[in-house]
Amino acid sequence: MLPKLSFSKLSVPGKGVAVVFVNDKLSAGAVTSDLLGGAEGLLARAAETAGFSGKARTTLDLIAPAGLGLDRLIVIGLGAEELSETDWMALGGVAMGAIGSAKAATVCLEAPGGDIAAEMAAAFAMGMKLRGYSFDRYKSRKDEDAPTEPARVEIGTSDAKGAKKAWAEADGVSDGVVLARDLVNEPANVLTTLEFAKRAQALADLGVEVEVLDEKAMKKLKMNALLGVAQGSETPPRLVVMRWNGGKKDAQPVAFVGKGVVFDTGGISIKPAASMEDMKGDMGGAAAVTGLMHALAARKAKVNVVGVIGLVENMPDGKAQRPGDIVTAMSGATIEVINTDAEGRLVLADALWYTQDRFKPAFMINLATLTGAVLVALGSQHAGVFSNDDALVGRLAEAGAATDEKVWRLPLSKEYDKLIDTPNADMKNTGGRMAGSITAAQFLQRFVNDVPWVHIDVAGTAMASPKTETSKGWASGYGVRLLDRLVREHYEG
Ligand code: BES
Ligand code: MN
Ligand code: ZN
Repeated sequence: MLPKLSFSKLSVPGKGVAVVFVNDKLSAGAVTSDLLGGAEGLLARAAETAGFSGKARTTLDLIAPAGLGLDRLIVIGLGAEELSETDWMALGGVAMGAIGSAKAATVCLEAPGGDIAAEMAAAFAMGMKLRGYSFDRYKSRKDEDAPTEPARVEIGTSDAKGAKKAWAEADGVSDGVVLARDLVNEPANVLTTLEFAKRAQALADLGVEVEVLDEKAMKKLKMNALLGVAQGSETPPRLVVMRWNGGKKDAQPVAFVGKGVVFDTGGISIKPAASMEDMKGDMGGAAAVTGLMHALAARKAKVNVVGVIGLVENMPDGKAQRPGDIVTAMSGATIEVINTDAEGRLVLADALWYTQDRFKPAFMINLATLTGAVLVALGSQHAGVFSNDDALVGRLAEAGAATDEKVWRLPLSKEYDKLIDTPNADMKNTGGRMAGSITAAQFLQRFVNDVPWVHIDVAGTAMASPKTETSKGWASGYGVRLLDRLVREHYEG
């Protein structure tokens, strides 16, 4: 459950559950040292007994510590190194994990080296909040040790005022991450194309302008690549356009485009049964774009942004698209559909073309759970990125390092592009077994004109993700913090 967080001035906690920090020499900040001074020798003795050495992100949990009025004292290791924003975020996650089902806790957010900057405090709070997230709305019987109400957590820090201010923005970003996680976690019988569009429309409450294009509108625009994917499903496709106008009037917008396949059976080229249930997450790109729009609107980012998501369901059916079918995309290019399971690129072909054509963005970044091959190449540690613009992808890589939502660039070239040529049409939608992520990216690039563009393949990072300090696993919300950072660092004001 998401905790209720507040900031206050640092002071010695007298009762309840307290969280404090020590480095690898078991030294603490002033207030914590004051607290521990009330129980001479306690920390050294407990640490010795438990084998706790203050290593980064480790914990020592003392119940009813003798000499103190506290019910519990949770000591968290800071290690020896200097701590970055993402370190503090991870520590927030560790703290939330350690608090467990406690109803309330006080955190003494300080380190032996001196005061903690407001941004670090906000990062810590974000880590706590994101670790608290769990997707349990369909559990009618809750786990016995699960909290029944949100934990009230008071974070004591030297610059409480600054922390509150930083948190007001960071909290909006965390809500964007939470939204993206919810969308990815929702099963496809609930999160249909229509339900997804509805949830995007709810962003209107934050001042986002939302437009929903239905089948008829898309037919008129000749989006036959996208429509071909959708034609086997009982639920119709939607293209959702979200606009946040926080920048100067008439300033060129930046654009984000997401693959929103609410379920990917593979279509007639049907997938094997094993793990097919994971394909409810094949809208992870669209979820990140929606979460990002939430984040930017919530923190009133000073920038004009367009978010476009293509929502379809890929099903086998009497009306479904067949292997060998040839469709004409909105751009006018013809595509031979060799494999109906390579559907994401068909959706994006029209969504990308539409976005650059209508909005003339300063840049266009798309996110998609596009290929299994990117998992083979990079696992869940980096998203694969492809770009026609060194400067833009360089900025993205920096944002990735700063947020720990890392990206790794893979190549594009004429030789790879050739692999999707076919005698029967302008291109085919698969390029064979080799270099699968790259040929998918080459396909997308054929629908990008001279606008700076990045494709982020998030098949390994947005869904089926491992547990981390700040996530209980599966839906990570990957991309929201990454792109929020990119926008904040370079495109606002
Ligand atoms: N949605 C899948 C990619 C995927 C695989 C995402 C695993 C997350 C985890 C995509 O639509 C797909 O099926 N891609 C095929 C392409 C192939 C048919 C050329 C793939 O990767 O096997
Ligand atoms: Mn597929
Ligand atoms: Zn897919």
